[in-house]
Amino acid sequence: MKRTCYVGELNESYAGRAVTLQGWVNRRRDLGGLIFIELRDRSGIVQVEVEPDSPAFAEADTVRAEYVVEVEGHFQPRPEGQRKGGLADYEVIASRVQVLNTAKTPPFELEKGEQVAEDIRLKYRYLDLRRSEMQRALMLRSKAVAAVTAFLDAAGFVQVETPMLTRSTPEGARDFLVPSRLNPSEFYALPQSPQLFKQLLMIAGFDRYYQLARCFRDEDLRADRQPDFTQLDMEMSFVTQEDVLEVQERLLAHVFREVLGVELPLPFPRLSYFDAMDRYGSDKPDLRFDLGFVDVTDLFRGGEFGAFADAQAVKVLAAPNLTRKQIDELERVAKQNGARGLAWVKRDGEGFTGGISKFVGEQAAALIERTGVGQGATLLFAAGEWKKAVSALGAVRLALRDLFELASNGPRFHVSWVVDFPQLEFDEDSGTWTYMHHPFTAPHPEDLPLFGTEQQGEIRAQAYDLVLNGYEIGGGSIRIHDPAVQAQMFRAIGLTEEQARDKFGFFLDALGYGTPPHGGIAWGFDRLVMVMAGAGSIREVIAFPKNNRGADLMAEAPSPVDAGQLAEVGVQVASPVRMEE
Ligand code: AMO
Repeated sequence: MKRTCYVGELNESYAGRAVTLQGWVNRRRDLGGLIFIELRDRSGIVQVEVEPDSPAFAEADTVRAEYVVEVEGHFQPRPEGQRKGGLADYEVIASRVQVLNTAKTPPFELEKGEQVAEDIRLKYRYLDLRRSEMQRALMLRSKAVAAVTAFLDAAGFVQVETPMLTRSTPEGARDFLVPSRLNPSEFYALPQSPQLFKQLLMIAGFDRYYQLARCFRDEDLRADRQPDFTQLDMEMSFVTQEDVLEVQERLLAHVFREVLGVELPLPFPRLSYFDAMDRYGSDKPDLRFDLGFVDVTDLFRGGEFGAFADAQAVKVLAAPNLTRKQIDELERVAKQNGARGLAWVKRDGEGFTGGISKFVGEQAAALIERTGVGQGATLLFAAGEWKKAVSALGAVRLALRDLFELASNGPRFHVSWVVDFPQLEFDEDSGTWTYMHHPFTAPHPEDLPLFGTEQQGEIRAQAYDLVLNGYEIGGGSIRIHDPAVQAQMFRAIGLTEEQARDKFGFFLDALGYGTPPHGGIAWGFDRLVMVMAGAGSIREVIAFPKNNRGADLMAEAPSPVDAGQLAEVGVQVASPVRMEE
């Protein structure tokens, strides 16, 4: 290799030495006859100075932004006392500049980075990826992969790959389908997760499995969702929930230590699903700040304020002194999240003013005592059906976090477990019971008798989610290994034996051949890396992501295919209907 080192590795030990560097021209400036080239490689930027009488001058004069160049020269750091903290502190005085390749004028200024419209960044992703932020993010991701692999290999986990062309897997999103030329009119589904395969690997006796698995889900996209994304998928045999959580805690702590040098306090706190919802209005509460709801249902029960009198739940959140504009904005958030409105009052002496204050005369003393609300501070109320009320107030809680930067005083990272999810959820739209995690999740053994009764909504699953700074970064469960329990579960969600066989026949067959007790989890690896990198979207930690409409703007995917290709796979396009935003 001709290169002496990456520019970021230049330090005092190179002072005065000849160096050869290779990279891209970040910027070229002419100053009083001198040419300055900012030379960039993946490690950073160094300033190259080309003097007018240098043999390098003529070639240096031809370079433009993003040209690929090789520079020879000697490294000349400024004496320590004279450094000003800029690029000029560490310069290379060029003796030779060679253009290895020219470049077209880039469609955007790389330095502008995140100010550039994201669509442009995504269309020219290879240029966007030259930016130091993107390079850092992908290197952090690579380090996280290395840390995970080292830990799991040492812990006896076996890495196994599972198929991409398979049949529908049960994670509850829509499938991406792939037509099969060899089996006309039949389709593969891309896996939503390797769930069934990893369970089959336990049946096959691998005992501990992991995989960095690509998963595919056709769902509406958000900042923390991609149609294809990566899971760190794991499964273990002969374990209890406690065993799984313990290994996961050590693994996550290892990753944070290796990649960021951050010590996560162990064990991670645990909240039940009910408590998380009841106190924070979310099954993935951001616990970097502890602003929780106070229950005041009893104070208003049967009282004169109709909206609260017969509500299943009345919850209150103690906010700082809010302006009318802020309250209106928070009310909009509450409404967007299913509330009919957002009631409020402000503390004034031993009572309240504004909003619904005329209805809280009697309750004033109790409200002050329970919430600890200070003078002038605002109380925000949500009332109604429990889940609706807490969810709406949960969204308000996050809006308050953003408004007052509540999370910035807390720890940089807060990890917790949410456990004891309900096994079944009633779907109002279809009027049927459905699984909350997936149909192979094991219920708590002591709740088994509730199957098929009116209380089956109270069956607790041995399911757990890993939550980091308000993001669900992982989810898993202990699985059903007893075919009789599996049959009970299918019955509870209204699947006939025939339907179950049709969907998962191969898997149900396997269950009967000696299935060990087992359980596991999958991390949303992109989400984890996003939070570790301090990024606002998973697109910032994925090299070639899709935009919010599921499009790869660079490769122009998805794209129409020609008639011949369609005919070969036996597919006809009905009419090109575009989904509206
Ligand atoms: P689950 O569906 O909870 O569980 O997925 C596991 C984790 O994957 C991440 N995730 C996503 N990340 C980016 N884009 C998406 N579209 C997306 N969907 C999910 C989340 C989530 O916590 N088979 C089970 C795991 C198990 O039971 O072991 C599963 O897939 O961070």
